[in-house]
Amino acid sequence: MATFETVAKLDEIPDPGCKQVVVRGDLVGLYRVGEDVYAMGDVCTHEEAYLTEGDFEPDELEVECPLHGSCFNIVDGSVRILPATQPEPTYEVKIEGDLVLVGPRRND
Ligand code: FES
Repeated sequence: MATFETVAKLDEIPDPGCKQVVVRGDLVGLYRVGEDVYAMGDVCTHEEAYLTEGDFEPDELEVECPLHGSCFNIVDGSVRILPATQPEPTYEVKIEGDLVLVGPRRND
């Protein structure tokens, strides 16, 4: 059975905006757009940078790495703009009341 872990309160994430959390030892970015929350790995797959410190574009559901400008789709972790070539892991998310829970990786 899938394990979900409470990692934040919904109102701790700006709307729209993002927040870095730790999920089972991994740094993960939570991205909020209204009542929807997406979870994606937070360390850029290109080099060492936190995507939650980059520019989040809620209309595009995309975040731009602050170091070299790679853009990732926060829904499926895919790369939209190089130089990164490897996708980010994404995770299942559940909202229960005002709590945000993150579950297993979706794109293993
Ligand atoms: S570290 Fe993110 S694009 Fe280079």
